[in-house]
Amino acid sequence: MREYEDLPGETGQRMFYVEERRPARAVFDRKIPDLFVNGQLAGLHEIWRRGVSGRLRQDAERPLRQGQTVHLELMIDGRVLQAADSYVSDIADAQTQGAVIEFTLSRGYLDLETLGRAQERMAIAGMMRAAQARISDVPPTYRELCAEAVHLMRAWRSTLSQIDNAELAPADARALLDEITPQVVDAWRPLVSRANALVAPGVDDPRNLAAMKAFTETIVTPELLDGPLWARTYHKPLGYPGDRVAMEYSYAGTDAGTTLYGRLCHRLGLALMRCVDTRRAFAEEMIREMAGRPGATAPLRVTNIGCGSAREVRNLVQETLPRQLAFSLLDQDRDALEFVHRDTLPSTLREDKPAQVDLIHASFRQLLRSGELVGKLPPQDMVYSLGLIDYLTEARCRALVNSLYGLLAPGGRLLVANLRRGPDSTYWPTEFLVDWRLVWRNEDDMTAIGRDIPEACRRTAVDETGQIVFLIADKPA
Ligand SMILES: C[S@@+](CC[C@H](N)C(=O)[O-])C[C@H]1O[C@@H](n2cnc3c(N)ncnc32)[C@H](O)[C@@H]1O
Repeated sequence: MREYEDLPGETGQRMFYVEERRPARAVFDRKIPDLFVNGQLAGLHEIWRRGVSGRLRQDAERPLRQGQTVHLELMIDGRVLQAADSYVSDIADAQTQGAVIEFTLSRGYLDLETLGRAQERMAIAGMMRAAQARISDVPPTYRELCAEAVHLMRAWRSTLSQIDNAELAPADARALLDEITPQVVDAWRPLVSRANALVAPGVDDPRNLAAMKAFTETIVTPELLDGPLWARTYHKPLGYPGDRVAMEYSYAGTDAGTTLYGRLCHRLGLALMRCVDTRRAFAEEMIREMAGRPGATAPLRVTNIGCGSAREVRNLVQETLPRQLAFSLLDQDRDALEFVHRDTLPSTLREDKPAQVDLIHASFRQLLRSGELVGKLPPQDMVYSLGLIDYLTEARCRALVNSLYGLLAPGGRLLVANLRRGPDSTYWPTEFLVDWRLVWRNEDDMTAIGRDIPEACRRTAVDETGQIVFLIADKPA
């Protein structure tokens, strides 16, 4: 017999008032301040009168601990909006850039209304300064490149707006876009490679980097925001954890945007981030190939860490493969799991070779903590992770890869993917145009991550665009 408070709909009477945490954007509508924790930059997540929370990449050498006192600063354009001493009050899961740490003020409180007004004043002052002073820190060659990008897009904006006014039939509009998109993409590719080379020297110099980023976001980014993919990745309405929505744009590959120019921008974004889809296709094909290996008859057990919308799983469960598929999909984002559940449910219920799809709402850290979930997963034929380790430091990646390799059955395979560092990478569009900060890796970096796995068992591979690098490890049978 269940108690009343256990019944659905009853949450029980709360005894103590707990102030609601407010998303940073609700308090700071013009510019979300940078949160610095002991001088290290973190993404401000939520704020309330007694504290703040932020996304912080932990320092592997000196990680923050529960209860530790820290100095917090909220800064706008390098100027202090508010400083406060505080302590770490919740650090349940601080492994990834997307994970949140909570800080409570040691004394006093935050006057949110006053802070909101001060933010408005400082942000406007910052915009004025950025418009005038910072350009001197931007190398002239980089300014020139940005001008070329803007010129290219403005020319198309102006042409297409005239055609928009002529109200083209939908099929004609599509045909027109089909014709001009390759031209625009071809013009952009060399721009991206040149930009990658031009920003590289500035990346290690914070002043230079900040100036180039501000310049890019002021000058070039606005030209692209009519395209939903650019707008979504730039504004990040759900922060980094909502990034699977951007991935879905790439998987769908369909037009989006309210004007011809917006649709062109969207298509350009899709072309530049095609590697997201080739990464998915690489994993999908690998699972298909493993399911087709002769001999085995038991279900193929596959675990996906940071599954997001798991498009490859949704594709595979609709096929009839030689072996049944049994997926365990883990993500910390509940919305992502709901999305997957809705799309895969019919295939888990069908009568011929129904797939099994278990959804695990957890952080990978919980998965790896011995005794929690690891023991519940049987040895796996394949474990893979796409788009997750790009947020992790080398030490974290190594620990993760070692643990995931440990989940494999004899003969099992591990696959992890990372955006690839290199002259033709998507570094500039990602880091500069939409301010999406990641860790970029090449084959050597991936080898370093996998170095605890016997050398004969591991290798690296690159996807067909050259923009994704994989570490693949095969456990001896
Ligand atoms: C870039 S998306 C990639 C999604 C999917 N793998 C794909 O390629 O489309 C990263 C995913 O990792 C999830 N994620 C981030 N940190 C995580 C953590 N600590 N534990 C579990 N999932 C995490 C996010 O919620 C998000 O769905």
